[in-house]
Amino acid sequence: MFLMLTVSHLRCEYRINPIGLDITSPRLSWHLQSDLRNCVQSDYQIQLSRTEDMAQIEWDSGKKSSDQSIHVELEHWVPEARTRYYYRIRAWDRAGDESDWSEIAYFETGFMGSEDAWQAEWITVDPSSQQDESCPRLRTLFELKKPVASARIYVTALGLYELHLNNQRVGEAYFTPGWTSYSKRLQYQVYDVTDQLQNGQNILGAYLGDGWYKGHLGWEKKQKIYGTNAGLLLELHIHYTDGSEERIISDRNWKSSPSAIRSSDIYMGETYDARMESEWQDSSSFQWSPVRVLDYSKEIIIAQENVPVTPIEQIKPITLLTTPLGERVLDMGQNMVGWVRFSIQGETGHTVELLHAEILDHKGNFYTENLRGATQCIRYTLKGVGVEAYEPRFTFQGFRYVKLIGFPDEIRLEDFTGVVLHSNMERTGDFKSSSSLVNQLHHNILWGQKGNFVDVPTDCPQRDERLGWTGDAQMFIRTSSYLMNTAPFFTKWLRDLQADQGEDGGIPFYVPDLRSSTSDGWGDTNHSSAAWGDAAVICPWTIYEMYGDVRLLAEQYDSMKRWINYIHAQGENPYLWNTGFHFGDWLGLDSKPDSYIGATDKDFVATAFYAYSVSLTRKAAEVLGHTEDVTYYDKLHDNIVAAFQNEFVTPAGKLAVPTQTAHVLALHFDLLDSTARKRTIDQLGKLVADAGNHLTTGFVGTPYLNPVLSDTGHHDLAYTLLFQEDYPSWLYQVTQGATTVWEHWDGIREDGSLWSADMNSFNHYAYGAIGEWLYRYVAGINTDEHKPGFHIVHIEPKPGPGLEWVEASFETMYGSVTSNWYRRDNNEMEVRVTIPANTTGTVLLPGADVQTVLENGKALAQVADIHEIQTQASDVRIALGSGSYQFTYKVLEADQALHVQKVETV
Ligand code: BGC
Repeated sequence: MFLMLTVSHLRCEYRINPIGLDITSPRLSWHLQSDLRNCVQSDYQIQLSRTEDMAQIEWDSGKKSSDQSIHVELEHWVPEARTRYYYRIRAWDRAGDESDWSEIAYFETGFMGSEDAWQAEWITVDPSSQQDESCPRLRTLFELKKPVASARIYVTALGLYELHLNNQRVGEAYFTPGWTSYSKRLQYQVYDVTDQLQNGQNILGAYLGDGWYKGHLGWEKKQKIYGTNAGLLLELHIHYTDGSEERIISDRNWKSSPSAIRSSDIYMGETYDARMESEWQDSSSFQWSPVRVLDYSKEIIIAQENVPVTPIEQIKPITLLTTPLGERVLDMGQNMVGWVRFSIQGETGHTVELLHAEILDHKGNFYTENLRGATQCIRYTLKGVGVEAYEPRFTFQGFRYVKLIGFPDEIRLEDFTGVVLHSNMERTGDFKSSSSLVNQLHHNILWGQKGNFVDVPTDCPQRDERLGWTGDAQMFIRTSSYLMNTAPFFTKWLRDLQADQGEDGGIPFYVPDLRSSTSDGWGDTNHSSAAWGDAAVICPWTIYEMYGDVRLLAEQYDSMKRWINYIHAQGENPYLWNTGFHFGDWLGLDSKPDSYIGATDKDFVATAFYAYSVSLTRKAAEVLGHTEDVTYYDKLHDNIVAAFQNEFVTPAGKLAVPTQTAHVLALHFDLLDSTARKRTIDQLGKLVADAGNHLTTGFVGTPYLNPVLSDTGHHDLAYTLLFQEDYPSWLYQVTQGATTVWEHWDGIREDGSLWSADMNSFNHYAYGAIGEWLYRYVAGINTDEHKPGFHIVHIEPKPGPGLEWVEASFETMYGSVTSNWYRRDNNEMEVRVTIPANTTGTVLLPGADVQTVLENGKALAQVADIHEIQTQASDVRIALGSGSYQFTYKVLEADQALHVQKVETV
């Protein structure tokens, strides 16, 4: 039978066939696909089995009447520990179609906190047997005498580990066990190693790297922030075909030896001496010595929460340069994060070095000053046998240029490959337009995410910082969630944020917080800046809107409340936040000379964000059914807004803080009465015009600038700002050849000089938050706050001067949304959209007359699948079901430039 309805894209906790989940109620999601429009799921059935043939069904939902197809929990069922469950799903739609069973997917649990978990012991190197700084190797040998049915390794480390079983690397993940707030939360990973075991003797070993645990971290040249000993905790569980089980665990019987990795550090790079390489089984280079058992908590161990960091793509250098100083430098053509894999041939004992930099200076020489204390150096000593290939393991570099030292005269580009690593999130967004500069900007934003989503959302990936700055994360979270599926990534990070939140509710500047793990504490006031700490509220709310993740919202709700309580307790007036340290509108261009902090009054920024966070926490309370809290936050919000207006708005309705950022925040956070709002809208237009139609905003104002302009009748101006090519603007850096987004609007000035090296990253995603405007406004793809996760899809394309067409797509939890629009010469407009099955949508056709709009050549009134048509000013709004639609119309004369000239009526 030909089936029109199919169920596909099975995910458990956002992931394809995850293993090692410690979740008592794992959530399943799937896509529905139908050849027919208006497809809504009426029923579903889920079946679960312990075997892939689904012969014995362990749990069956039966035919369940529901339109839910994301985050579906299995009622009254709790998984057992260390068990793989296979599942399949079928669905029915309201048109009466029935799908076949989906393909079979699985998930597998981890220890689930079971009592017999972690019989293994923490082991480390005995300092009496290894004094050097090299990365130790720990190993065990064991015999297998019976056929193996399945085998799993459960493993974590203090520091980083790389496992090898029978001389083969285990798994594809790097930088494991990942970076969490180590003193409170430490992840373990699970690997299926059934196929790597062999009859007879087996060798299992691990390299240990310093990583975030004990390597350099932070700009104060500190090391060993979390601890001094790298350690390993590992269990190999073997199930034999005869039903018996055996465990190989880390214990005092393991042996350790130094290794050829002579040193390794995330910031500093890696030093490797290939002459010291030895197989796991031999002892030609080093003695294998007894290990020491380490007394370290197992209570804090949790299952892997984020998707792992893996090598994602490879790029080849585009050229080899010789700089004026005579340096030989590879140009990778892209500012990237990861490392270089290379091959080389030469004499034994010869050492080569690779240094990494983001830019060349204005003379064209290799420039590393902006890396500050991070040397990013790979040093390799040859063994001298044939062609040798190398790539590092426990470090990563942020770079476009690679200076080669000690390499042979003849350098072949094919011997070098850039390996790009980041958290392996599914790519979800794509945006193309008629402007190649805007497309390059989109590319740069995407690469900003690739480089800075290496397990933790970092400010930058190259200098001695690379920290989970909370402000940067909240600014970029929505953009990043258009580009890739960030839900597991932020779930993990928000749990760290909550873990590191102060007892008073304060939020660290960055998460994981180094401060709380150092003995000197770094002073008590180094936390809780407005717009940074608000990540505690903005991030869970954004994940809720983008993915419909109520569970995460519920989990973070207490942390959100505690942040609000923290603010409330500051200063004398509980409705203003006018005390303490704040980063203000960080890097705003209206700052005083030599200051990083923009001109916008810091109390203004702090109080505005206070109001905003309260409004979002109120919404969260509503979603979660905390009605008393809703009433409380309503009142609190009213009081803050009143205090804000009293403090920052003149009686005649003029905003007293005359900066772009102040105007943007007051409008975006809805802090004004109608008179003041009108004046502020007009004034914002003037402020931008006074700046020569340029922005002056910093980290805090920039993300909201274009959205506010588009929302308040200044949509043309938003386009004008987008298309500026001179400083300061997004495209200025693009015209300067940027391949990622810069920290400073003038990282490289028009005369070629550079912003001071103490703070000049060329891969900082904060200003990349314009990406949200490209997807949400220009392409117009938006969710509905009341039906989050795109259960209702709003598509409201906003053309403007400078763009002829846009083709954008976004992979929601339900399936793909597309929004393509084309303005043709003769004022024809074409809008093509796709709304995924099991969602409904609204489409706004700008500058359309309902009489002239055709859908696939048919008048709108004749299209059966359209639910409702409304005319709004000169736009047509259509409510419709799932499917693909193609609308064409002649743009109304008044709107022919498609400058949406309406000024907001308030
Ligand atoms: C980081 C920023 C961060 C800031 C705090 C900087 O060093 O790179 O991105 O938000 O400090 O203002």
